[in-house]
Amino acid sequence: MVLKSKDLLGLKDIDADEILHIIETARTMRYILDSRNKKAPHLQGKSVITLFYENSTRTRLSFELAAKYLGASSANISSSGSSVSKGETLIDTAKTIDMMGTDIIIMRHPMSGAPHLMARNVKASVINAGDGMNEHPTQALLDIFTVIDKRGSMKGMKVAILGDVSHSRVARSNIWGMTKLGAEMSVAGPATMVPPELQKTGVRVFHTVQEALIGADVVICLRLQLERQQKGLFPSIREYSGYFGLNGKRLELANKDALVLHPGPVNRGVEISSDVMGKSVSCVNEQVNNGVAIRMALLYLLTRRGIGENIN
Ligand code: CP
Repeated sequence: MVLKSKDLLGLKDIDADEILHIIETARTMRYILDSRNKKAPHLQGKSVITLFYENSTRTRLSFELAAKYLGASSANISSSGSSVSKGETLIDTAKTIDMMGTDIIIMRHPMSGAPHLMARNVKASVINAGDGMNEHPTQALLDIFTVIDKRGSMKGMKVAILGDVSHSRVARSNIWGMTKLGAEMSVAGPATMVPPELQKTGVRVFHTVQEALIGADVVICLRLQLERQQKGLFPSIREYSGYFGLNGKRLELANKDALVLHPGPVNRGVEISSDVMGKSVSCVNEQVNNGVAIRMALLYLLTRRGIGENIN
């Protein structure tokens, strides 16, 4: 199977079959990742650029390692260390990178839609590594991979997303992707942090975490994104944590052995307590490992478009 688009910009515009194909390819990639010799030839002769206008640990590093493990040439540009800081436009930067023979550009940007603009202006494939409050598709893919790996399927899974939903591109991508695979989604957060229009999409909206947690099979805690917020959305971090943080007692409302996910970076004691982080149901470490496999799969699949070759 070949991915339909040259780019991966979001899970809104991708089919369930394509999502499952990426997951199955990631499963194969994980053998390389977990092996003693992490050097495969799948991307030999290909070049990958990471272009990050916002900070990142997990996403950028895992893409860089994924490219290296598969034999690609890779380089990183950050906005502060590039000619972006001299006033170069996004499109001019895009065309410059494209003309260097780049095969894949991985981009994070604070403005929603920036990777889409880049994709329209380059021959290279563009992967959205997070755009504003819009989407973070590779995070959702690794979350879906983690759940399918542990529970076999997303179908019928009751997923509760807790916290700062309004500012979360992770929440949006997970809602698009998990719904397409048959999950039942609910969200809970302060009224100031949950977009009311979500209800029209079939997502159940609650304003207490207790209501969302009852019967949940999967709980996704979101990072409180203070950097994207106006002041005054909640009285204090202490109050936010008291009402919307996940702790061991609240987790008892979910189904037995409900999986707990967090995209990271974690604000321990704010959106999730340290005791929950330490429980066996916490998937935070597996998410990181699966993130590299998902990114290896995407780099591989996007460079195989038009060739029709498949490792599965
Ligand atoms: N989950 C995530 O996107 O983490 P980083 O910001 O560290 O990449």
